[in-house]
Amino acid sequence: MTPTRKKKVVADFKTRFGEPECLVRAPGRANIIGEHVDYCEGLVLPFAIKQSMYFCGKRRNDSLVYLHAFDYSKTIQLESEKEAPNWSKYFLQIINLLGKKKGLNQGFDLSFGSDIPIGGGVSSSSALCCGFLLLLNELLGLRLSKRQILNLASEAEHGIGLRGGKMDQTAIMFGKKDKAIFLDCKNETHQFIDLSLEENKFVLFDTGVKHSLVDSEYNKRREEVDLALKCVCKSIGKEVSFRELTLTDIAFLEKESTVLFNRISHVISEIDRVKQSVKAIDAKEYSSLGLLMNDSHRSLKERLEVSCNELDFIAEHLQRQANVYGARMMGGGFGGNVIALVKSGYSGGFNKLTSDYEERFGIKLKIIEVEPGKGASIEKI
Ligand code: GLA
Repeated sequence: MTPTRKKKVVADFKTRFGEPECLVRAPGRANIIGEHVDYCEGLVLPFAIKQSMYFCGKRRNDSLVYLHAFDYSKTIQLESEKEAPNWSKYFLQIINLLGKKKGLNQGFDLSFGSDIPIGGGVSSSSALCCGFLLLLNELLGLRLSKRQILNLASEAEHGIGLRGGKMDQTAIMFGKKDKAIFLDCKNETHQFIDLSLEENKFVLFDTGVKHSLVDSEYNKRREEVDLALKCVCKSIGKEVSFRELTLTDIAFLEKESTVLFNRISHVISEIDRVKQSVKAIDAKEYSSLGLLMNDSHRSLKERLEVSCNELDFIAEHLQRQANVYGARMMGGGFGGNVIALVKSGYSGGFNKLTSDYEERFGIKLKIIEVEPGKGASIEKI
């Protein structure tokens, strides 16, 4: 599927705009564990997936910007559209950001298309931002490093609404084949963890829903955990980060505010689960990893309250299956995907889950296998 989409985007660009100067690929990301802790100086364990977004571009002789969305068969001239499509706001945000920092006035034609499930919780928006920045970097000779690109992508996404951490952009820019990225979000450093899964597989189950409250509820959780940390610092009389705290340090908060206690206990316990997961992966103890994933789901559901009925239905069904080590919601929540670690021998059959899900929610479940692939790259045309 991947090469076909890439070729289609290039061929379409040629007929529309002529010979491209540059082709960029930006992958989506999956996350094994470490959810809703990247904005808390936490530890996370994502990887870049093979499914990617492709961008083709060439400079123009004027300062106009033409964008073509291959998947929506829609071309726009940026800034001239009265009713701009949703995806165009990311491009505009980045152009404005770069304009302020680098003074852009070179026009270009661009076409993009993707085999990442859009809006499906594998961070198509970060892939779009990172990929577009990488294309501009090449096309306009901006000399931005990978880290500068990921920081700019994150800044652009904040400008649009979701005040996320930098897990997605880091995985997208730095991903490596067969490796998970053990990312320390406090000092923004990462190590690669060998992910030879011995025939076991990571499988994503797309709920097919994205509840509209994602951005507002996500930002609210961020405020709540920050507030909880302030209360804890005040009580212990010194400034500490989430990373230095234990569940004992925060026990007092339960009486003062159950909500704040639950929020921060998710953060502390999830960071600990990531540490344990790295050990389990190194020791090839997949059952332990699976149990940690199940615990992560429970904490996201009960303590952080970012799950939804569709995610719980899928995760809890999978957790009962003998051929599954563990399953949990992945990403920001309120829809998107469940990630499961499925035992070797899996041949694609989750028929009971698919039919039960369709009966309950009226939605056809989409199931895809994912494996760690390389990060964003400049491709041969
Ligand atoms: C979204 C954000 C990430 C991260 C996850 C939850 O994907 O973009 O930064 O916070 O949610 O772990």
